[in-house]
Amino acid sequence: MNEKEAILHRHSVRAYSGRKIEEEKLNDLRAFTACINREGNLSFQLVLDEEKAFSSLTAHYGRFRGVRNYIALVAGKDRDEDVGYYGEKLVLHLTELGLSSCWVALTFKKIKDAYRVNSGEKLYLVVAFGYSDNTGSAHKSRAREEVMSAQNPPAWFLDGIDAALLAPTAMNQQKFRFSLTDSNKVKAECSFAPYSRIDLGIAKYHFEVGAGKENFTFAE
Ligand SMILES: Cc1cc2nc3c(=O)[nH]c(=O)nc-3n(C[C@H](O)[C@H](O)[C@H](O)COP(=O)(O)O)c2cc1C
Repeated sequence: MNEKEAILHRHSVRAYSGRKIEEEKLNDLRAFTACINREGNLSFQLVLDEEKAFSSLTAHYGRFRGVRNYIALVAGKDRDEDVGYYGEKLVLHLTELGLSSCWVALTFKKIKDAYRVNSGEKLYLVVAFGYSDNTGSAHKSRAREEVMSAQNPPAWFLDGIDAALLAPTAMNQQKFRFSLTDSNKVKAECSFAPYSRIDLGIAKYHFEVGAGKENFTFAE
């Protein structure tokens, strides 16, 4: 599976089976996470065989079952968009490895000793992951026209929009917008809502994979 196929396959999954993740895949994930941390100057950490974060009542209300692995998305302050962008890069890699996942903002308990948060850093969210017997289902989506503005958009731009519309967003809000401001310049914006800057980073990553990096640059 490549990244484009992973975008089509990925859905949030909240119930995990007890199947152990092979050491080979864990090593791949460790290396991939280290690479992302270097590239984005982040402190994402794999937390394995830790069942306390999702064993409380809150997690049950959140419909989470059998979570024992997660990625702690730790980074410096005001890095929301980067946390979304690089976090989704990891999520798609999990999908490529045949693992299910779900971004989680609320329904988990912070377990102090499970990961490191240095001074000047914070835990933004976690991504639960593991094997599952179900693959989730497609979310309800806004129409292309609601999230884009462009006159005579080229095919690569529409491919980017379609990929962005498949991205996970908090409460499935999809409050992002992509505008074609020049033949190869794209402006990405979001309206003000909880987690909307993280969602924007996630959607930008999907857009980039769908549209192809070689076709455009994001406008500042
Ligand atoms: C930033 C963010 C935070 C999220 N927080 C939660 C959460 O706390 N609990 C939960 O069950 N799902 C959470 N989700 C998952 C979304 O509900 C899910 O991505 C959305 O409904 C779209 O569904 P899909 O991921 O299957 O495409 C979160 C997603 C994102 C991107």
